[in-house]
Amino acid sequence: MMYGSMEHMVKNRELVLVSYTEEGPVTDDHLKIRESNFNINGCKEGEVTVQNMWVSVDPYIRWLIKEPARALYFDTFKLNEPITSPMVGKVVFSANSGFEVGDVVTGMYQVSEYTIVEGSALRKLDTNLFKPSDYLGPLGTVGLTAWAGILLVGEPKPGDEVLVSAAAGAVGLLVGQLAKIKGCRVVGSAGSDQKVKMLKEEFGFDDAFNYKTQTDWDAALSKYFPKGIDIYFENVGGKMLETVLNHINMKARIPLCGMISQYNQDWKESYGVRNLINLVGKSGKMQGFTVVEYFHCMEEFVKEVGGYMQQGKIKYREDVHVGIESFLEAFNSLFSGGNIGKTLVQLTPK
Ligand SMILES: NC(=O)c1ccc[n+]([C@@H]2O[C@H](COP(=O)([O-])OP(=O)(O)OC[C@H]3O[C@@H](n4cnc5c(N)ncnc54)[C@H](OP(=O)(O)O)[C@@H]3O)[C@@H](O)[C@H]2O)c1
Repeated sequence: MMYGSMEHMVKNRELVLVSYTEEGPVTDDHLKIRESNFNINGCKEGEVTVQNMWVSVDPYIRWLIKEPARALYFDTFKLNEPITSPMVGKVVFSANSGFEVGDVVTGMYQVSEYTIVEGSALRKLDTNLFKPSDYLGPLGTVGLTAWAGILLVGEPKPGDEVLVSAAAGAVGLLVGQLAKIKGCRVVGSAGSDQKVKMLKEEFGFDDAFNYKTQTDWDAALSKYFPKGIDIYFENVGGKMLETVLNHINMKARIPLCGMISQYNQDWKESYGVRNLINLVGKSGKMQGFTVVEYFHCMEEFVKEVGGYMQQGKIKYREDVHVGIESFLEAFNSLFSGGNIGKTLVQLTPK
């Protein structure tokens, strides 16, 4: 093995957390790019150097930029250290016999152009059938979230009436298509007419509505769900959840995947849902989950969803921003609804 040999220095840029914020959008007051010299050949035994190609940009990161004492959900990022995210990259130097230069790998590690990573934290990817970025989208944690959330938590049955919020986003697009494959009638809510059109015409949703223009959500749900709602796949929280609870059927299931409408504020200011009593009367089940609990299902999930992709039964969209300097713009698009499908930052062209 050649590690420890001559230095091969390059410039490296990483994304560092410099301050926390409880409320409002994340800006360059909170996340900054730090540049340093980096030795590509600097791995220790067991490690590999990865030149990163793709960064996954996800809403949960907002929780990790809150003061440790005020955060819920996960441990927050540490100050003055690079933030982490699901990444895909190419091995450019290896001190681990399990990896060769050129291998395409994925793992959860620091957001930077080059990273030295323990081989045990990486998974090699088969890029013959799917492109590398698919492993951060439909075949990555986002896909696993959708698959586990709708199939294992939601338990769809043919004929079920399903509502998906943030339906044109990374998780929502997959949830809707998986529910259709399982024989459900699926309606999506999304924040623009373009997204509504796309859901119906490109992604096979039975119907969709723009929650920003159809502001009487109670009337909208009466119109789109005359038979009531059996499954509500929850991505947004707040008033939408409250409105949906007045429309659920007996034995309704509500997989709580996320509540993005509430992330840019302190949790004490969150919208207080007032009508949980509907779950009592309707014997409904509302269950939170995180994708982490389902990592052991990765193989089964990739086989099933990868199969649907190859058969053309599942389509997907990416929203690509180029360069590590575009991370903040990409991240904030999740909160303004600027993205369609999976939001990614591309670091190298291939
Ligand atoms: N439980 C888990 O393990 C897990 C894993 C991954 C993701 N998640 C959650 O899943 C949800 C979707 O994540 P994603 O990665 O697929 O993101 P995404 O849907 O691709 O992007 C977020 C979308 O949320 C919508 N949105 C933003 N602010 C909103 C608001 N105030 N009210 C209503 N909609 C709003 C926007 O679409 P519009 O144009 O429609 O407003 C935006 O495109 C998030 O809540 C996320 O935290 C959970």
